[in-house]
Amino acid sequence: MLFKNKNSSNIDEEQIALIEYAQERIKSKRRLFYHFSIMLIGSSSMLIANLLFDFKADYIFFNYPWSYWLCILWLVLLFYHVFNVYIKNKFMGKKWEKNQMKKLLNKQQIKIAEIKAELEKEARIIAESQLYTEKNPNRIITLIAAASENNVIGKDNKLIWRLSDDLKHFKELTKGHHVIMGRKTFESMPKALPNRTNIVITRKTDYQANNAIVVNSLEQALKHSESDNQPFIIGGGEIYKLAIENADRIELTRVHTSIEGDAYFPEINTNLWEEVSSEKKFKDDKNEFDYTFYRYNKTN
Ligand SMILES: NC(=O)c1ccc[n+]([C@@H]2O[C@H](COP(=O)([O-])OP(=O)(O)OC[C@H]3O[C@@H](n4cnc5c(N)ncnc54)[C@H](OP(=O)(O)O)[C@@H]3O)[C@@H](O)[C@H]2O)c1
Repeated sequence: MLFKNKNSSNIDEEQIALIEYAQERIKSKRRLFYHFSIMLIGSSSMLIANLLFDFKADYIFFNYPWSYWLCILWLVLLFYHVFNVYIKNKFMGKKWEKNQMKKLLNKQQIKIAEIKAELEKEARIIAESQLYTEKNPNRIITLIAAASENNVIGKDNKLIWRLSDDLKHFKELTKGHHVIMGRKTFESMPKALPNRTNIVITRKTDYQANNAIVVNSLEQALKHSESDNQPFIIGGGEIYKLAIENADRIELTRVHTSIEGDAYFPEINTNLWEEVSSEKKFKDDKNEFDYTFYRYNKTN
């Protein structure tokens, strides 16, 4: 039967293993049958000798004659034998081992595929960012922000001052350009900024934003704004921190006050950034603090 569909000269190792396994099972069942027969004969002989012919009739354990105990012990051994043949060997024999191995291999293959996908994703992001640098050497990635003397830029996802001229300055600089922002900054605004291409960075894969492009990394945001010679990173704190390394320019409005908040502009390292212009402004009825417009360019 085993060779039903195959020529006997083509028996492969797997078939040989199956035949050996089947033979082993037949032998073990035969051994079990012998065990059962011997137990029947042995137990009956012991009971007859003990109970009918009073052999060692005074050997009593816990109120039962010795022959009872030996019969029970033998029965337990037989059950153990049955368990080995019909349960352990059947379910945990070669076939069981093979299935377990198969499952383990499948799991490992899934894991390897996941790691591979992750590595490919990272490699793609690195390649994209390299491509971007190579393609756009003259592009000026600009961080634009307004920060207090102690670098605070916002509190409770809101701006913390009323500086009308700073808003005008922001509008003039960013008009017609791509503005890249974190998801929280986007949500702090009533709507997407008009006359600009809004790009929102989030880790959420199903995030929807009206009139804005949604991306999952700064590299993707920069890639989307590739056609723009001066894309602006407009905050907030997390995104400034992330982008300051890639930036070429900072347009910073330094607001001359110290204030409490929960979002910060990163410290400007003067070894890396050179102040190229500044323009001081004084408070009035539309601007509640004195402030200075600074421009920093990254040193080479
Ligand atoms: N004074 C200013 O010039 C100025 C300008 C802009 C904003 N602000 C203020 O700044 C505050 C908001 O700043 P914030 O730091 O709390 O938030 P944020 O930088 O605006 O946004 C943070 C969000 O960006 C996403 N994100 C961060 N890193 C990421 C990464 N590596 N990859 C993908 N997504 C990433 C995450 O979005 P998910 O959680 O969705 O994944 C994160 O929650 C507000 O108070 C706002 O008013 C001030």
